[in-house]
Amino acid sequence: MATVGPRTHGRGPGYAEAAPIYNGGTFYIGQLLSVARGAELDVPLRCMIKGNDLSTALCHGCGPMAYPVPIQTLAAVSNSQRRARCIEHGCALAPPAWKCPATSSESTLHQLAPYIGKLKSTIARDLIDQYSKPKNLIVDPFSGSGTIPLEALLAGRRVIASDVSSYAATLTQAKLAAPPTLGDALATAERLLSTADASQTVDLRRVPEWVRQYFHPKTLKAAIAFARTCRAEKNHFLMACLLGILHHQRPGFLSYPSSHLVPYLRDRKYPRRQFPEMYAYRALRPRLVAKVHRAFRRRQLTDAEGIFRQVSVEDIRLSECFDAMITSPPYMNALDYSRDNRLRLWFLEERSQFESNDNNNGRAKGFIRLMIAIARLNERYLVRGGHCVLVVGESVSRRQTVHPAQHVVDAFAAHAPSLVLETVITDSIPDIRRARRDYRGVKTEQILVFRNRQT
Ligand SMILES: C[S@@+](CC[C@H](N)C(=O)[O-])C[C@H]1O[C@@H](n2cnc3c(N)ncnc32)[C@H](O)[C@@H]1O
Repeated sequence: MATVGPRTHGRGPGYAEAAPIYNGGTFYIGQLLSVARGAELDVPLRCMIKGNDLSTALCHGCGPMAYPVPIQTLAAVSNSQRRARCIEHGCALAPPAWKCPATSSESTLHQLAPYIGKLKSTIARDLIDQYSKPKNLIVDPFSGSGTIPLEALLAGRRVIASDVSSYAATLTQAKLAAPPTLGDALATAERLLSTADASQTVDLRRVPEWVRQYFHPKTLKAAIAFARTCRAEKNHFLMACLLGILHHQRPGFLSYPSSHLVPYLRDRKYPRRQFPEMYAYRALRPRLVAKVHRAFRRRQLTDAEGIFRQVSVEDIRLSECFDAMITSPPYMNALDYSRDNRLRLWFLEERSQFESNDNNNGRAKGFIRLMIAIARLNERYLVRGGHCVLVVGESVSRRQTVHPAQHVVDAFAAHAPSLVLETVITDSIPDIRRARRDYRGVKTEQILVFRNRQT
């Protein structure tokens, strides 16, 4: 059984020392439960592990509770002694730098289009630097908007990325194979815009009403024609640019006033009678060209290679071993990627109905299945001494008895016996990074670091 002794994550600049700040304290069960249910205390969260079982984690006198502790474990503590004590700790605090905004320093390719559950690029880069070396092969099987793949390429790693969603496929491939120069991108954009203009084949009667309600008819025709042209030419970069300007209330976007991340019309806030200009025709060409310029504002170049496959994690087959897996699995119980990306997915697939991916991700059973697949991939393909880093969003509900991070640890214990849990980093997600500001479900991310202990 793996044991994590006292240690910190302080291996690089900016990493906080996990030294005790208060000795000998105890935490009462009500306090622990409020942490477990997502309430915030004004002290940093720390994680203590003994063996591969997070349920043995107990309170450390110097800080509050190990967060991913199953609620029933806390209840047992409550019954027996009404308080919890530290056993042993292998905790790590998220570096303070992770809280800083990255938007003015990161590659502007990261800002092609929004993505719920997107990882901050600086966190991705830190994890890549910590747990892999230049030229290593990194695998990200839940690539989403491609944050980890792009940062891995910029850090000189090779990448195999995959995701089940076609929106993720577009964004990841847009970043892995962006045009080399702004001139190339603009020339291709002009060519594809002309091709789309020439193809007068869009019949709006075949477009579902829920899509039509977002756009002026003339804008919608132009956007659909351009999307079809990008799909025919397999131009992921320009498709991503189109999806990035699809809906918002600002003038640089194509829709009637609506939200940016998840599509909702804002016609109550901006009634048509009061704001007629927001419901006027919006030309595609100048908005697309401006978007391409924005994407190239800080375009960093790299020679490294990346491969993407649109495939579920359960169907991944690899022909070589990887040096590290760095990935953020879907949030259990919290997000529905198909529903939240429905308008962009319609432009990618032109299907009226999107299956909710709740069955896959939303329930514990589906999440556990995905984690078993991840554990098996690592057992089979992770090189000796290599690391598997999983950024696990913690959603907490009253009905939930086992936390997502615990499911991951259990899946690895059962299906990846060669891997040992080495470090847990706890990071609270600031409001600014949440998919929906008013959504209180996901409060923290547990970063679980496993290592292949074979030598
Ligand atoms: C938390 S997001 C990843 C975010 C990503 N790291 C980023 O920065 O954009 C989780 C991803 O898992 C994907 N996903 C859900 N079920 C999947 C499955 N069965 N196989 C592969 N990917 C899946 C979702 O489409 C989503 O993109």
